[in-house]
Amino acid sequence: MAPTQIRIDAPADGVRRITLNRPEARNALTTTMLGEIAAALAAFAEEEEVRAVVLTGGEKVFAAGADLREMAEKTVVDVLDDPRAGHWRAIARFPKPLIAAVNGYALGGGCELAMHADIIIAGRGARFGQPEVNLGIIPGAGGTQRLTQLVGKSLAMKLVLSGEFLSGEEALRAGLAAELTEDAETIPRAVELAARIAEKPPLAVRLAKEAVRQASEALLAQGLAFERKAFTILFATEDRREGVAAFFEKRKPVFRGR
Ligand code: HXC
Repeated sequence: MAPTQIRIDAPADGVRRITLNRPEARNALTTTMLGEIAAALAAFAEEEEVRAVVLTGGEKVFAAGADLREMAEKTVVDVLDDPRAGHWRAIARFPKPLIAAVNGYALGGGCELAMHADIIIAGRGARFGQPEVNLGIIPGAGGTQRLTQLVGKSLAMKLVLSGEFLSGEEALRAGLAAELTEDAETIPRAVELAARIAEKPPLAVRLAKEAVRQASEALLAQGLAFERKAFTILFATEDRREGVAAFFEKRKPVFRGR
C-alpha cells in the first residue's frame, strides 16, 4: 500500500529520500507514520540499487515528537504492547547509511528519530530537544541512551532534565550533528553526501556502518531496556495525564508527584 504520511522520492543515483508529511501537526509521529518509515527502510534494505537514504521533515520542521493526541489516551498496558516499539527497532536495524536532514524542531521522538540516523546534518534554525519531562514522562525511543552517547553525560542530563533545546550550532558543537548548514542547504547537502556515499563500494559501506555501531551497541541494549521500562511505568502517573492535558489546553502544568 502506498504510504500516506511520508513521501518517498529518488533525488540522486542510488539515493532515496523519505520526507515526513504531516505539516499541519508539525510532523508529529503517529504510529502509522513510524510504521511507514520502518516499512520504507525495510524495502530499501532489500533493493540493491538503493545505497543511501536521506530522512527529512522538509524545510520547516523535522518532527515535534510523538503524536500527543494519539498518545494521550494510552494506558500502561497499551504501551507494553505498543507496535511503536517494533517500528523503532526496525528503523534502528536499517543496514544502509541513513542521513537525517534536520530543519526546525526535532523534539522528543523527533530528536530520537534523528538520532537513529547515522549522520545528522542540521540547519541553523534546527532545535533539538527531549521535552518529555514537561509531560511527566521520559524519552522512550532511546533518547536517554543515544543522546548521552553523542553529547556526553552533562549536556544530556541538562536536556533530558530541563527540556531545554539545542540550536543547530550548539548541536554541531556538541557532536550531535556532523554538519551545520544554512536552512535552505540542509536537504541538498544531505542528498549530496548520500550520493557520494552511494558511489562507494556497498559491502565496505555496510560493514563500516556495522563496525561503527559496534562501538556503542553492547551498552545500548541494556540502557534501552531500562529506559523502556521507566517510560512505561510513567504512563500510569497523574503527572503524565496532567502534562499532556496542559499542552493541549495551552497552560502551565501542575505536577504533584503522583
Ligand atoms: C500532536 C502536535 C504536536 C505533537 C504540535 N502539534 N506538536 N500534535 N502531537 N507532538 C500540533 C498542535 O497541537 C497544533 O495543532 C499544531 O501542531 C501546531 O502546533 P503549535 O504548538 O501551534 O506550533 P508552534 O507554536 O509553531 O510550536 C511548535 C512546537 C510545539 C514548539 C513544536 O508545537 C510543541 O511544543 N509541540 C510539542 C512538543 C512535544 O512536547 N513533543 C512530544 C515530546 S514527547 P492545532 O490543531 O492547534 O493547529 C514524545 C514522547 C511520547 O515524543 C509522549 C507520550 C505522552
